Amino acid sequence: MPFPIHRPRRLRKNENIRRLIRETHISIDDFIYPLFIEDGQNIKLEIPSMPGIFRYSIDRLSEELDEISKLNIPAVLLFGIPSQKDAVGSDTWSDEGIIQRAVRFIKENYPHLYVITDVCFCEYTEHGHCGVLCNHDVDNDQTLENTKKQVVSHAKAGADMVAPSGMMDGVVKAIREALDEAGFTDIPIMSYSAKYASSYYGPFRDAAQSTPAFGDRRTYQMDPANKREALKEVALDIEEGADIVMVKPALAYLDIICEIRNNFNVPVAAYNVSGEYSMVKAAGKLGWIDEKKVMLETLTSIKRAGADIIITYHAKEAAKILKEG
Ligand code: PBG
Ligand code: ZN
Repeated sequence: MPFPIHRPRRLRKNENIRRLIRETHISIDDFIYPLFIEDGQNIKLEIPSMPGIFRYSIDRLSEELDEISKLNIPAVLLFGIPSQKDAVGSDTWSDEGIIQRAVRFIKENYPHLYVITDVCFCEYTEHGHCGVLCNHDVDNDQTLENTKKQVVSHAKAGADMVAPSGMMDGVVKAIREALDEAGFTDIPIMSYSAKYASSYYGPFRDAAQSTPAFGDRRTYQMDPANKREALKEVALDIEEGADIVMVKPALAYLDIICEIRNNFNVPVAAYNVSGEYSMVKAAGKLGWIDEKKVMLETLTSIKRAGADIIITYHAKEAAKILKEG
């Protein structure tokens, strides 16, 4: 027998053949871009730990929205920073809340843009936890009642989709019922189904001023060591009516994305979170890695693991590169 019959390198000879056999493609169609919207006027504030990402007031949001539209990014995910926080996060269900005003502004001026609202309380509560406190922990069922008010208010403002991120039990069912009862049967739910208690959220908490004032989120977000539990969370959310399920963070949880993709037949979203973004930016700035290449490799790996949708702060940069081809 002559020396190897099989020479896999034949199919790596040049870029043409590599293009032909490439298994995974990232596209602008995959991206959701997160936006931080702050109450106030004339605000465009760069988040120190997230270079290139800003907090905007509504009156300056067009600077960002024009660019997103031009790049043809299909959707944005909104996070609000209210001027007033309180014990329960009541800004979240006020029709004059920061998110409600932002949604109305975007749908009026950029009707083609798909608007998804993050549904939680941590940016709106004084204590920074994701719901109503009782005995130093978040009370699940009281929080569900407020969540229902929040989603109906988002829908009334014109949100296209809602994305509950608080990891409360039964939240998808509660939201589905509340939306249906209010006549919003067509609004889908993208559930943060497998959301881990991750240290990769650090820069986001700076950005959204949502660091818990005491303790941490480990009584509601998942233990990073668990995989089977993610499958259970996803199964429950689908039963309760989730249209899209999400894994968060993405990069340290590619095995979870893969497992969910292989076990369920709904679209899977992955949240490429703030800490993942910041690490690439920091190492790039130091000249320790080729930032653009690492970014594209990261996004490709999330897609290859099985994600249909990638929520990423890199969306604009990646879209620019993909557009130029
Ligand atoms: C809060 C929420 C978090 C993120 C989005 N919504 C994190 C948290 O503080 O638990 C993180 C996003 C990121 O890190 O980019 N419900
Ligand atoms: Zn929260």
